[in-house]
Amino acid sequence: MASISDSPAWKALQEHVADVEQTHLKDLLRDQQRCEALIKEEGGLYIDFSRQRMTQETVKLLLDLAEASDLKAKTQAMFSGEHINSTEDRAVLHVATRARRDQVIVCDGKNVVPDVWEVLDKIKGFADKVRGGEWLGSTGKPIKKVVAVGIGGSFLGPLFVHTALRTEPRAMSFSKGRELRFLANVDPIDVARALQGLDPEETMVVIISKTFTTAETMLNARTCRAWLTAQLGKEAVAKHMVAVSTNLKLVKEFGIDPENAFGFWDWVGGRYSVCSAVGMLPLTLQYGWDIMGQFLNGANAMDDHFLNAPLESNLPVMMGLTSVWNISFLGYPARAILPYCQALSKLAPHIQQVSMESNGKGVDIDGKPLPFEAGEIDFGEPGTNGQHSFYQLIHQGRIIPCDFIGIVRSQQSVYLKNEIVSNHDELMCNFFAQADALAYGKSGTELRSQNVPDFLVPHRVFTGNRPSLSLLLPELNAYTVGQLLSLYEHQVAVQGFVWNINSFDQWGVELGKVLASKVRTKINEARNNNRFIAGSDGFNYSTTRMINKYLAGKEQLLYADPRDVFPVDLIDAEKAADNA
Ligand code: F6P
Repeated sequence: MASISDSPAWKALQEHVADVEQTHLKDLLRDQQRCEALIKEEGGLYIDFSRQRMTQETVKLLLDLAEASDLKAKTQAMFSGEHINSTEDRAVLHVATRARRDQVIVCDGKNVVPDVWEVLDKIKGFADKVRGGEWLGSTGKPIKKVVAVGIGGSFLGPLFVHTALRTEPRAMSFSKGRELRFLANVDPIDVARALQGLDPEETMVVIISKTFTTAETMLNARTCRAWLTAQLGKEAVAKHMVAVSTNLKLVKEFGIDPENAFGFWDWVGGRYSVCSAVGMLPLTLQYGWDIMGQFLNGANAMDDHFLNAPLESNLPVMMGLTSVWNISFLGYPARAILPYCQALSKLAPHIQQVSMESNGKGVDIDGKPLPFEAGEIDFGEPGTNGQHSFYQLIHQGRIIPCDFIGIVRSQQSVYLKNEIVSNHDELMCNFFAQADALAYGKSGTELRSQNVPDFLVPHRVFTGNRPSLSLLLPELNAYTVGQLLSLYEHQVAVQGFVWNINSFDQWGVELGKVLASKVRTKINEARNNNRFIAGSDGFNYSTTRMINKYLAGKEQLLYADPRDVFPVDLIDAEKAADNA
C-alpha cells in the first residue's frame, strides 16, 4: 500500500490545517453545539474533546482518515487473532487476557479463552492459599510480603495498577497487613530499597519475565535467590520463589518448580501484559480475586466498546484520531498525561512505554521509511505537582497537548471544618482551571486594563489556544482502572493503525542490549586479569577512556575470596552463618 500520507483523506486534513489555524479555542468554546458534539461518554467515563483544536469538520475529516487507513478492519484483525505483528509473526491478543469466560477468541485455529482462564483459576487458587495462610514459608510463617521482580512491561503496568489501588478503600481492606514491592532496575540501590526491612521468612519473590532472559531481571532474580537462600537455605526457593513467563523451560532451569510458574503466551506483548499473569499474579496476591476480577471486567468492557462502538462515539478511536491530528497535522509531537489524582501517579510512566515502545517507529509495516514522523513523546506527573514544575513551559513555551484526568469521588477524603472546600475539591479546582487557562490565555489588553506595567505585559501574556482533553472518571477503583488501561492501550493501537506501522514489535531496544553485552564481557575480562581496557578490546577512544576512568575509580576490582556481597542490613548475619 502507498503511504497513508498519499491518501486524499490525509491531504484533505493537511489542507484543513489552514482553516483551523484561523481559529482560537476561546472562540471555538463559545459554540455550544460544537462542544456538545465533542463530549463523549461511555461506561461512566466522560471525555471532553472541546478544548482540542478541532472543529466538527476536523472530526469528519479524521473519520475519513480512519476509513482510508482501514481502521475498523485492522481492529477486527487484532481481535480475531491475525498475526498483525508481522515482524515477529505473532497475533496481538492482550484483549484475550481479560476475556469473559464464555467469550471465544481464536488464535491459530484454537479458542484461547479456556487457556487464559486456566491460568487465572490457578492464580486465584494460589493467591487464596497464600493469602489464607495455607501456603507457608519454609520456616512455617505466613507470606505477607511480595517482591515482584521484572522490568519494562513486566513492571510498569503492575506498578501502575498497584499504585492506583493502594488507597482505594475496598482494595485497602483486602490488602490489610500485606505489602507488594517492585524491583526493576539492575541498580544495586534498587535491590537495597526493595529488600530493605523485609523478613525473608515471610517474603515471596515473584520473577516476572516474558522471555526469562532479560539481563536486568535475571540478575535481580539471582540476587533475590541469593538473599533468600543465604538466610533460609536452598530449599526455601520452593516456598519463596515463583515465576511468570512464557518460557517455562528456563523457569525450571533457574530452579523454580514449573508447578509454581504461571504461564502466558507469545501473543501477549510485554507492555500489553498487565492483565495476564504478569500483573494478575502479584496483584491478586496483594488484593485478592474479588478486586482483581473487577479490574479485568473493566478492561474487558472497554475492549468491547472499542471493537463495537461506531467510530464517532468510540472513546479510544476518538482519542487516537485526536492525537494523530495533533502530532501529524498540527505538528505537536509531545503529550502530557496529567492525572489530578495521586493514585494515578504511575499512569504516565506506564503509558509512556505502551505508547513510545509501540509507535516510536521510522518505517511502515512493510518496512518503507515513513514520510512523516510517527510516535508521540509522552510524559506526565500528577497535578498539582506538575503545575509547580513544567507547566510554565506548557502555558507560555512550547505547545504540548495535555490529557487532564480527574476523579469525581476521591478514594480518600479530607474536609476541614474551617475550609470553604474539601481537599479534593481544591485539587479539582485546579483540574478545571488549568484546561481553560491553556485554552483562553490572557491578552495584553486584559493585562493593561488590570494596570500591569507595560514592561511586564509581554512576560505576562498567555497566548492561549493550547489544546487539551479532559477525562472524568466517577471514581478510581479496580473496574475503572481496567477501563482506563484499555482506553489508553487502544488509543495507541489506533494511532499505529492509522500511521500503518507495526505497533507491536520493539526492535529499537535490541542494539543497546547487544553492545551492553560486549561491555560486560570486556569488563569481566579486565577485572579478572586486573587490567584496564586496551585499544585491542574493540571500543572507540572515548568509550575505552571512559570505561577505564570508571574502573580506575572503583574501590576494588575483585574480592580476594569470591563471595556474595549485600548491604549489611539486608542479611541477617546469624541466619546467614547457620546456612553457610
Ligand atoms: O525493553 C524491551 C522489552 O522487551 C520490553 O518490551 C519488555 O516489556 C521488557 O523488555 C521486559 O521483557 P521480559 O518480560 O521478557 O523480561
